[in-house]
Amino acid sequence: MLLKKSKYNVAIAGATGAVGVEFLKVLEKRNFPIGELRLLASSRSVGKKMNFRGKNYPVSELKENSFESIDIALFSAGGDQSKKFASHAVAAGAVVIDNSSAYRMDPKVPLVVPEVNPEDIAKHQGIIANPNCTTIIALMAIYPIYKLSRIKRMVIATYQAVSGAGAKAIAELKNQTQDDLEGKKINPSVFKHAIAFNLFSHDSAIGAEGYSQEEMKVVNETKKILHDDHMLISPTAVRVPVVRAHSEAIHLELEKELSVEEVTEALKAMPGVKVVDDRKANIFPMPRAVTSQDDIFVGRIRKDLGLKNGINLFVCGDQILKGAALNAIQIAEKLIA
Ligand SMILES: NC(=O)c1ccc[n+]([C@@H]2O[C@H](COP(=O)([O-])OP(=O)(O)OC[C@H]3O[C@@H](n4cnc5c(N)ncnc54)[C@H](OP(=O)(O)O)[C@@H]3O)[C@@H](O)[C@H]2O)c1
Repeated sequence: MLLKKSKYNVAIAGATGAVGVEFLKVLEKRNFPIGELRLLASSRSVGKKMNFRGKNYPVSELKENSFESIDIALFSAGGDQSKKFASHAVAAGAVVIDNSSAYRMDPKVPLVVPEVNPEDIAKHQGIIANPNCTTIIALMAIYPIYKLSRIKRMVIATYQAVSGAGAKAIAELKNQTQDDLEGKKINPSVFKHAIAFNLFSHDSAIGAEGYSQEEMKVVNETKKILHDDHMLISPTAVRVPVVRAHSEAIHLELEKELSVEEVTEALKAMPGVKVVDDRKANIFPMPRAVTSQDDIFVGRIRKDLGLKNGINLFVCGDQILKGAALNAIQIAEKLIA
């Protein structure tokens, strides 16, 4: 834990990015006790100013000596920057909460969803990793069920928003859609394929087993967070033309048979989860409806037709909030509690 103080000096590495911008909003909304705030990004952003609590803060270049007197360093500048600079932040005395995948599977680094494994925070040695956004969203929905019955197998298909690939990907979806509607030629740049009026297998590299890096993050990180190496996980990750908020179709095989009512009650009791499951009106979680919401939304709660111990769900969550910035700041709140 951190030395008890009334205010903490906070640095944000990657402050100008999709997650960085959200860090500022979440810190402000949750009234995080901040002393000094240091905003860091690439040399491209030096000179920019960002507003926090009504005051403009300059952006400086992320460097090895950026972390003097910092208590908490929130990293969202990509894995390469985390690998290069997180150790300097730790050496300067800061606790790093890292949003990249750089340290997630390092056995010395806790990987934390505060509603699931808060006890792991205390094991940190300077770095705490924030899980992959798809993994956090899935875990918020499956953990209350897991507590009732161990999950033997999870089949998960994702519908991932473009903002998961950063601020430039949002602009690409908007511009491409406009260009396509106007009959102009489309020139994909952030993504390899056209994203306007299209979808494709997740844009991360495919490994030897035929699974993308994004899919393997869900497999490996879920096991690490639940401390359950035996859970079987079969993922398919897809990028869809949605600006913000990921959706996931989740199929669970449980050890014990649970009723829809038991599962629904467990989900309703889970902090940070809301059930939206109106079968009559056909209203279930949707990415537009959950955008900018802190909670993870779960619906389509139903028994699997072909599996006695099977439960199926449809889940949506704002992956920049609970999938990234909010989860990281919840970790910071636990650190200073
Ligand atoms: N977007 C999501 O939904 C999401 C969810 C979970 C985790 N993450 C992770 O969070 C990280 C950031 O993602 P993002 O979506 O916010 O990306 P983004 O919108 O592309 O922002 C990247 C940020 O990193 C900074 N940066 C890039 N190269 C840098 C360099 N060489 N030195 C210093 N700063 C540099 C950028 O600064 P400039 O503006 O100066 O270029 C910007 O502030 C990634 O590791 C990503 O995997 C993202």
